[in-house]
Amino acid sequence: MCGIFGYIGEKEAASILVKGLKRLEYRGYDSAGICVLNKNEVFLIKGKGSINDIYHPENFQDIKGTIGIAHTRWATHGAPNEVNAHPHADCKKEIIIIHNGIIENYSALRKILEKEDHKFLSETDSEIFAHLIEKFYSGNLEGAVSKALKLIEGTFGLVVIHKNNEEIVVAKRSSPLILGIGENEIFIASDAAPIMDYTNKVIYLEDDDIATIKKSSYSIKNLKEEEITRDVHEIKWNIDQIEKKGFKHFMLKEIFEQPEALENVLRGRIKEDLVKLTVDFDINKLNRVVITACGTSWHSALIGKHLIEKISKIPVEVDYASEFRYRNSLVNENDLMIVVSQSGETADTLAALKEAKSKNVKVLGIVNVVGSTISRMVDSGIYLHAGPEIGVASTKAFTSQVMALLLFALFIRQKKGLSLDKNLLEEISSLPKKLIEVLNKSEEIKEIAEIFKSSTNFLYLGRGINFPVALEGALKLKEISYIHAEGYPAAEMKHGPIALIDENMPVVFLATNGTVFEKVLSNIEEVRARGGRIITITDRDDSNIKRLSDYIIKVPATMEELSPIINSIPLQLLAYHIADLKGLDVDRPRNLAKSVTVE
Ligand code: G6P
Repeated sequence: MCGIFGYIGEKEAASILVKGLKRLEYRGYDSAGICVLNKNEVFLIKGKGSINDIYHPENFQDIKGTIGIAHTRWATHGAPNEVNAHPHADCKKEIIIIHNGIIENYSALRKILEKEDHKFLSETDSEIFAHLIEKFYSGNLEGAVSKALKLIEGTFGLVVIHKNNEEIVVAKRSSPLILGIGENEIFIASDAAPIMDYTNKVIYLEDDDIATIKKSSYSIKNLKEEEITRDVHEIKWNIDQIEKKGFKHFMLKEIFEQPEALENVLRGRIKEDLVKLTVDFDINKLNRVVITACGTSWHSALIGKHLIEKISKIPVEVDYASEFRYRNSLVNENDLMIVVSQSGETADTLAALKEAKSKNVKVLGIVNVVGSTISRMVDSGIYLHAGPEIGVASTKAFTSQVMALLLFALFIRQKKGLSLDKNLLEEISSLPKKLIEVLNKSEEIKEIAEIFKSSTNFLYLGRGINFPVALEGALKLKEISYIHAEGYPAAEMKHGPIALIDENMPVVFLATNGTVFEKVLSNIEEVRARGGRIITITDRDDSNIKRLSDYIIKVPATMEELSPIINSIPLQLLAYHIADLKGLDVDRPRNLAKSVTVE
């Protein structure tokens, strides 16, 4: 989703801004723009498409200036085009802004400003900021921004410059903004990725902070214009982790990083057959767990429900965060909410968290991005430590989330005084090696992808703990290959999707050992009888599976609790290879955003 990057220092800003925007590409965007200030002159370039479409080195050769701001836009108000792309300027072209978030009262504000003769060029809500700040500006940019913010209803990560001022003013509410503190240079960004090329010292701004940034100093105030201080944090990961390291795509690299990611989420958390977590809630009061999340994280939550209910015998509800936040859920202080989010910035998940906290519910975060908004707001948390996930389609974060939820299930069981299954603990530690075995099947899976790459529909079927895996497999395919795919509980198929089955319909079955294996076998028979083309993921040497399947992807045997992690890998690889064979932009699928910071 929209990305922000800004620079103030002693170096030429233009090339730094372009590099920074490229680091933000993974968030997903449809237009971009850059503005550089040079001795009271404003250079502004923006347009639709990728940064490479907009940025031509020859246009940049003569651009001098050590202050600049840049933006990648993911359209909400107004089509993706040059006019709607950020940055936006006021009428005099002196005040330049970029904005992430949504101004909810923008129609009313626009009407007032238009009556005052402000001329709007774009259809965006963001342009309001340029005109509103212009209205209040009389030499003090920070003061004008502060006055403008008092009239805004909505969310913002806002960055403002004035052509005559050697400073950048920024403000935030429910949209992340980070300052990167270098030597005689300061960076501003919506996430740490573009800052990491220069410094690992960062400040996470809090809601309603307004910061005025000069090349070697900054000051932060609240809306009451009182000075405040924010801690400087050190980011632990390094720039190598956001490079492709020889893989064709980030997604492929991240799929292959899963054995290591699992080791990272487990590190130090199982010792002497005990699970060690720092989780803040009272086990004696715990009636129910409510998990909220979006997208892929919602799928891991569904697997978490199976794991927590089976292992810890606590009832679990799973809700889409976007639904939970508006449905007056009957949560109370005897519930524990878990929010699952790779980015830690998803707007709906954040709102669900706030809703729960307003009802005195303790919230546990399962988050990947250290220092993200959600990670800072929860009562306690389990960091995934999966490393940066750049591919829009989530892979290593998903399997790490499942593992974190499993650790949580075991932890609750232990807190209840029940013994843990030693076989399961052993199997957990051998899982990273088993994932390597599955990853070695990448070329074999590519051959299957070649056969099905022109299909227009896919069905994914699983049961029990592998039903959410079917949902996730279908989502992966949709996201990056644009093939319509549906995940279904295998038994539900006969209540509808069975009508779709013919010789053109590939059906992917999750048929690994477990309580429902025989049941899944019957569902495979039903598809076979109707001529569907069957791809089966299995760990069994089963003669029926061989008879019924057109293609088999054999995975290592494991315990049922861990099967979702193993079974997800061939589905990720299948989606990846199909999209790649179709020549699609795997890491930046159309219309999608990595971090969805609007509701
Ligand atoms: C977007 C991403 C998905 C992700 C979802 C939730 O839609 O494209 O990959 O699963 O947001 O994101 P989160 O960061 O909260 O896990």
